[in-house]
Amino acid sequence: MKHLPNFFRKGQVRRLLCTHGFCTHGFAHARLCARGFCTHDLARTALHAAFARARAPCHRPCARSEGEEWQRLRSLLGRHLLRPRAAQAYAGALDAVVTDLLRRLQRQRDRHPQHLVPDVATEFYKFGLEGISSVLFGSRLGCLEPEVPRDTETFIRSINTMFVMTLLTMAMPRALHRLFPKPWRTFCEAWDYMFAFAKGHVDRRVAEAAERLSRGDAAPAPFLTDQLAREKVPMKVIYGNVTELLLAGVDTISSTLSWSLYELARHPGVQAALHREIAAAAGDGAAAPSPAQLARMPLLKAVVKETLRLYPVIPGNGRVIADRDIRVGDYVIPRKTLITLCHYATSRDGRLFPAPEAFRPERWLRRAPARHPFASLPFGVGKRSCVGRRLAELEIHLALAQILRCFEVQPEPGGRPVQPMTRTLLVPAADINLRFLSR
Ligand code: HEM
Repeated sequence: MKHLPNFFRKGQVRRLLCTHGFCTHGFAHARLCARGFCTHDLARTALHAAFARARAPCHRPCARSEGEEWQRLRSLLGRHLLRPRAAQAYAGALDAVVTDLLRRLQRQRDRHPQHLVPDVATEFYKFGLEGISSVLFGSRLGCLEPEVPRDTETFIRSINTMFVMTLLTMAMPRALHRLFPKPWRTFCEAWDYMFAFAKGHVDRRVAEAAERLSRGDAAPAPFLTDQLAREKVPMKVIYGNVTELLLAGVDTISSTLSWSLYELARHPGVQAALHREIAAAAGDGAAAPSPAQLARMPLLKAVVKETLRLYPVIPGNGRVIADRDIRVGDYVIPRKTLITLCHYATSRDGRLFPAPEAFRPERWLRRAPARHPFASLPFGVGKRSCVGRRLAELEIHLALAQILRCFEVQPEPGGRPVQPMTRTLLVPAADINLRFLSR
């Protein structure tokens, strides 16, 4: 039995970077949580560390929910997002956004003599934001229009600033915060803007719902904000959670779509097989594939799984066991230790995935040999796993199917391979530029 080295026991945030792929089941109930503040696991962890270090007063609503309160809200969100039927209810809203995405890709590629769309991640970033806001409040933000409205631009910039400043404020020793207050101030300003933006949309949505009700129209609107308001969730909690969901649905979608098309462009055989699968299941028409048609596209799902194995947008999950020491394999981990499971490492481990660096979607098809169930955990696991998973999968599947029906995607002529890097999230280290050729 081994104890953690002192290095892990000292600092304010103690971190065990683990590459053994251990299961996080038992950790799921007691984890670091700053809900209402932050989107994803790593960012939440980083924020916690940043708050602990800077001890600065904070101005935004500190909706930290734990225990029963958190459980109640999580079940509610799960009911409206995670059940397959519930997620499918958003397909109509997402279809309209996918149609706008195709129009935008067409416009962008028409501008270029080689039909190149530079930096596809930026295009999909806008798609992600437009998609999640259509699900949350039925609002269209104009992200995919030729001219993006100024407040939407500022919101997008604030998300970027927040992620960059998260790393910086976390890495800075506490004493330096007093000498150089700017990073922390910028970080707080970005959060203030994001909260104000989300609050504005929630308030508009809730006012519209009340107005409809006063006119005797009691039919529920299929938007998450309406559903939370109908369940009498306090407004402060709605603001916090809607902001979190809004942020969670942008980089995640953008990164996964960008890498999927990047790999498909580099593997024309897989792309051709996928195109055949989509055409066979959904025909040649322009209408978006129905959930039943998507269900007949196993290769599409395998492509997304393989993309997330190679490029898990959240490359690690954090857990804290607050109340007791635990034993993991040969190690004793003291209570209150922050444990980070680096599933980027496990999902590229050759012992778990043969030829781990190769893009081979077929390894996820049913006839492939069974693999370790925790070897690739892009959506996390247990009670705190991704609540947007079904929605994300639906959005990515719809977008990929429609893009591949319209375009053959090719790499940039002479383009160099793009590597992933972490910016709190895992993102492309250089622009991904792709050619979109009409089919
Ligand atoms: C490819 C897309 C996505 C990936 C790979 C992803 C991945 C993850 C991961 C790894 C976690 C932490 C899980 C854990 O600690 O066990 C998480 C949490 C979360 N995700 Fe996602 N996510 C994606 C898309 C989305 C979308 C579109 C939304 C919004 C609808 C969303 C909302 C959330 C929320 C709210 C949490 C926190 C859940 C909680 O703590 O209860 N995610 N996600």
